[in-house]
Amino acid sequence: MTDGVAGRVHRIGVIAGDGTGPEVVREGLEVLEAVSEAEGFRAELETFDLGGERYLRTGETLPEDELERLRGMDAIYLGAVGHPDVKPGILERELLLRLRFELDQYVNLRPIIRYPGVATPIPSHAEDDVNMVVVRENSEGLYAGAGGFHRKGTAHEVAVQESINTRHGVERIVRYAFDLAMEPSRRRKLTLVHKTNVLTFAGDLYQRVVDEVAAEYPDVETDYVHVDAACIYFLDMPGRFDVIVTDNMFGDIITDLGAMIQGGMGIAAGGNINPEGVSMFEPIGGTAPDHVGKGTINPLAAIGALAMLLDSIGERSAARRVEAGIRLACSKMTSMRAGEMGYSTAEVGDLVAEGATA
Ligand code: IPM
Ligand code: MN
Repeated sequence: MTDGVAGRVHRIGVIAGDGTGPEVVREGLEVLEAVSEAEGFRAELETFDLGGERYLRTGETLPEDELERLRGMDAIYLGAVGHPDVKPGILERELLLRLRFELDQYVNLRPIIRYPGVATPIPSHAEDDVNMVVVRENSEGLYAGAGGFHRKGTAHEVAVQESINTRHGVERIVRYAFDLAMEPSRRRKLTLVHKTNVLTFAGDLYQRVVDEVAAEYPDVETDYVHVDAACIYFLDMPGRFDVIVTDNMFGDIITDLGAMIQGGMGIAAGGNINPEGVSMFEPIGGTAPDHVGKGTINPLAAIGALAMLLDSIGERSAARRVEAGIRLACSKMTSMRAGEMGYSTAEVGDLVAEGATA
């Protein structure tokens, strides 16, 4: 959003959420303050009280008025949601997934980059072997919630969970991935990751759409890898991947493995993107209950999510600053793992801010 007189103003919705969410978001917001000052724009923050605490207090997950308020933001910054006292599935489906669906954030963009100096659990990986981005379909597939029980609780129980794949949904994610592969920062290679040998309906649709759209992108090399084999290649030959496009469930699973080969969940950031609407950026790691309140959690994933957010609102130079800050922090930290970083949460945030404003 631009205002010629007062300068650039962006309205950012902040859902700090549960667990270590508020601790990592705090560091991200400090970095935001530093780069907005350096770049001359203003971030207007609106906080949202959503997550496990509110649910336990009021029984509400995502009230309509909060959803409407979120629709009015330029972008959303999310910490983590999930609470040990809330039954699994409630906050996931009724808050996180509902936000993704209601705001039609159909792209889950998860860069997998190993920054210089970051320790890896895979000793055979050279530093620049790991540089890819997963384009995870984020609006359908197994996550659509289709299915049900029959004769629940009996010996003859049936549980059905269906994967919904629409031509429209598959085509828009595949097109997004091809466009991304053409960006100057990428290597013009797109790999479809699926399981076409078993999932012969959904996989067939994905493969046909990739083949059709590929004809419009003669400069992009296309490849196909089964999802199980992709796990092997993540460890054995990560350099074969540039842009990966995959469905919702496979994308969820391979990006956890991806986080590990970039150094750990502590540095893995992602964006839930609606290219025409409101996007939401988050560290992909979750609430880390063991680290709450100790100052041991790694804020770099949340800060990386902030860099993606800045890119999405057009503050590219601020995003590059944040990335420079992340590089500085990475070069000094002993590990990306919570509690083993060699610095506290706040100190890592300070390192990033220092590198971002140098
Ligand atoms: C993620 C998470 C979520 C998902 C959960 C919390 C619903 O694992 O963002 O990867 O499965 O998408
Ligand atoms: Mn996940």
